[in-house]
Amino acid sequence: MHDFFEKDLEIFEMIENKARQIASYYGFKPVSTPVVEKADLFIKSEDEDNPLVEKEMYAFRTRGGDHLALRPEGTPPIIRAYFEDGLQSWPQPVALYYSGTYYRHESPQRGRYREFRQFGLEFLGEPEAISDALVVNVFNIIFKELGIKSFIFHINTLGDKECRKSHRRDLLNFLKRKKERLCKECKKRSLINPLRFFDCKEPDCEELKKEAPLMINYLCDGCKAHFKNLVEILDELEIPYYLNNNLVRGLDYYSRTVFETFIEKDAKEEKPAEYSLSVCSGGRYDYLSEMLGFRPLNAVGGAIGIERLAWHIGRKEEKKETEVFLAQLGNEAKRKGLKIFEELRKAKIAASQSFTKDSLKAQLATADGLGAYFTAILGQREIIDGTAMIRDMKTGAQETVPQDKLIEYLKSKLKEK
Ligand code: HAM
Repeated sequence: MHDFFEKDLEIFEMIENKARQIASYYGFKPVSTPVVEKADLFIKSEDEDNPLVEKEMYAFRTRGGDHLALRPEGTPPIIRAYFEDGLQSWPQPVALYYSGTYYRHESPQRGRYREFRQFGLEFLGEPEAISDALVVNVFNIIFKELGIKSFIFHINTLGDKECRKSHRRDLLNFLKRKKERLCKECKKRSLINPLRFFDCKEPDCEELKKEAPLMINYLCDGCKAHFKNLVEILDELEIPYYLNNNLVRGLDYYSRTVFETFIEKDAKEEKPAEYSLSVCSGGRYDYLSEMLGFRPLNAVGGAIGIERLAWHIGRKEEKKETEVFLAQLGNEAKRKGLKIFEELRKAKIAASQSFTKDSLKAQLATADGLGAYFTAILGQREIIDGTAMIRDMKTGAQETVPQDKLIEYLKSKLKEK
């Protein structure tokens, strides 16, 4: 669990404001449910033989003996609220949005926290694929409006109760036949929940996935038509998607549509964990309300992981704050540097400096940390020659430029970035 300050909080707020504004335009109404619920609400939302959510839940007994839990996610509470608060009598379908904190006892790593924020959408009471497309489209517009350029929706279908049976049977037989090639974890869990095999990232299992029976080949006519319809609408709306037949999702209640959104790796960047983590995900959950003991209710939804999305936005903004870092070596360079720093400001080039540091190595490290595109270095030789050394921080290439041409040179170089 983390503390957050000014900058992160500003980005969280910006994401939530934008998301709220777009969701409202598309007819979604706000809802807020408690942070604490009966633990049973979440336990019932998973397969009996796959108590994944239960294991990850912060659950406790109250003095009065109630078994409660910090909510690990937002979907079961929305179904509970729909029936308990009489939303059945509202004009149907009911479209809701929410944001808040969620709690999962996962092993912490970057991008996977124990307290995290989500912005979610739930569309209740509509079986047709148009509602799946609407949910995906609202997320699509939110990402676009937030200036995220390279995102993609991975989508798949898990079929329904009926067509899933024969897939499960064939998948189980396949996994039993290939048991020797499965990783340790998959050997253990494949008999309990064979679909989880598709989540495995071990190289041997990745290789086996290429031969494994896929749900897409087992769909009944109804599920096939539903998925085809969804894909056609996504095409029509020009939503970037990739048909990922290995996508199964971690929660057990999904049927038919599932999706996860990824921000694509910028080929020039190294690969931090966040690139392989979804920034948004969801799907259709037509059976969840019955699992919770209510009457059947068609529903589809999804949620954005706010910290994960904020990380991408923050990275971009930080870079914009420093385009050029001015490094200097020696007293004369400092004096000259102050003048050039002011020229950079007048030229509206986003520049940073640390005039109190003397080591070039430390200054380059600061420039790197700020994500500067270029560092302008003023050493003793440059002061004598009236030049500056410009270092491209990505390629490491260096070029010597006369000081009186510096601004012009940097302006033209920055245009290429
Ligand atoms: P989920 O995939 O578990 O789905 O979470 C949705 C999003 O929340 C993920 O794509 C991710 O961005 C973020 N997230 C999940 N776990 C963490 C974590 N430990 N730390 C940081 N971010 C995280 C659900 O929760 C479903 N309720 C979504 C849904 C709504 N399905 C239908 N309606």
